[in-house]
Amino acid sequence: MAEPEVYVLIDERGQRYLVSSDTRMAQVAGLGVLSLEKLRGALGRRLVVGDRSVLVLPASRRDRMEGLERRAQVIGPKDAAAILFHADIGPGSVVVEAGAGSAWLTVALASAVGAQGRVVTYEERPDFAAFAEENLRRSGLRARVELRVGDVAAGIAEKDVDAVVLDIPDPWTAVGAAWDSLRVGGSIATFLPNVEQVRQTVEALRKAPFVEIRTLEIIERELEVRETGTKPSFAPLGHTGYITTARKALDRFL
Ligand SMILES: C[S@@+](CC[C@H](N)C(=O)[O-])C[C@H]1O[C@@H](n2cnc3c(N)ncnc32)[C@H](O)[C@@H]1O
Repeated sequence: MAEPEVYVLIDERGQRYLVSSDTRMAQVAGLGVLSLEKLRGALGRRLVVGDRSVLVLPASRRDRMEGLERRAQVIGPKDAAAILFHADIGPGSVVVEAGAGSAWLTVALASAVGAQGRVVTYEERPDFAAFAEENLRRSGLRARVELRVGDVAAGIAEKDVDAVVLDIPDPWTAVGAAWDSLRVGGSIATFLPNVEQVRQTVEALRKAPFVEIRTLEIIERELEVRETGTKPSFAPLGHTGYITTARKALDRFL
């Protein structure tokens, strides 16, 4: 079955609105109802909607994340890109994730694994699972993702998976379940705001055993190019979280 078409509407302030042919109507908060025919005809151009003017483009991977609503903390493109590379996630990968939250990271994972891959996301809160499902539908990637309501630490049904990605506050509780689920050489990735959480996670990873354990913080600084001059953005270099990655092994050096 063909995947839905997804468009992004960008207003003059850079605000993004995602429109997917998979949602019941092209209902866009703040812009009203739009016909997909009209969007297709306006691709690459400015479209006047009521008293607003928006640029219509096919949605990029970034749009599919940043065009979604969010609840609680989300993982944005800066950290998602690093997780994908360091956890070796690409076309055809089978990935288990927890928790789904607002599904921002789920969208990045589903984009990366492609139509031949699979993402299984565990979320223990039914209200967040429902919110994640709506966001996935809006992103056009719902068909690539299986949503399970439950505690990932209680066990992962999927076996021989390529990667397990944990964005939960206590990933050390799920390290055993992740090890059991992964194929040999498969990757685990965790995302944590505090150093204390990283320490506890790394200790659990060493015991499992996982090897090739690395922790990174990604710092991104944008350059503003203007007629009046070019300079680094004043936007704060805010801390998001530490990414820890490791690979499943059967032995480790002592
Ligand atoms: C920080 S949010 C995840 C945000 C998500 N990565 C995103 O980009 O939108 C953490 C989520 O993990 C869920 N969670 C926490 N512990 C969990 C567990 N043991 N199993 C499954 N879900 C869990 C929480 O309910 C919450 O929705």
